[in-house]
Amino acid sequence: MEKQGNRRSFLEIATAFIGGVLSLAAGIPLIGFAISPAFKKGESKWVDLGLADRLKNSRFKKVDYTFTAKDGWVKATKKRSVYVTDAGAGEWNVFSRTCSHLGCLVRWDEKQESFLCPCHGAIFDQTGAVVAGPPPEPLQKLETKVEAGILYVKET
Ligand code: FES
Repeated sequence: MEKQGNRRSFLEIATAFIGGVLSLAAGIPLIGFAISPAFKKGESKWVDLGLADRLKNSRFKKVDYTFTAKDGWVKATKKRSVYVTDAGAGEWNVFSRTCSHLGCLVRWDEKQESFLCPCHGAIFDQTGAVVAGPPPEPLQKLETKVEAGILYVKET
């Protein structure tokens, strides 16, 4: 009788153990799938700025655009603004308008030949380098490419 009880308890323990192992095997990938977007960094993507011909000979021309980006679980439409300069020979200089200090939008000032930030008085030169004020870094220069006559910038 005691032998049968031992066998039963062994079978119960073995069944519980195998059930636990199978649950973990199935559950870990599911948990990983559910929480992995929270740890993914936003992917970079190419965003259409319009016909390169339309921007030909531009000099610090302000261009606004929108794009959709996935951030974690959320897919959102983002608005951005850049200054585009046709540097010639198929090269483009595209600067983000976001100040590297606290994120205010800079504007190009034709008279001073500089980008000015209204928030804390920062000044950036034509290359985006900091000339005055508190920003720790230059303005971000975006990567560009032209495909099928369309100018693209790389958004991160
Ligand atoms: S946000 Fe531009 S200087 Fe502070």
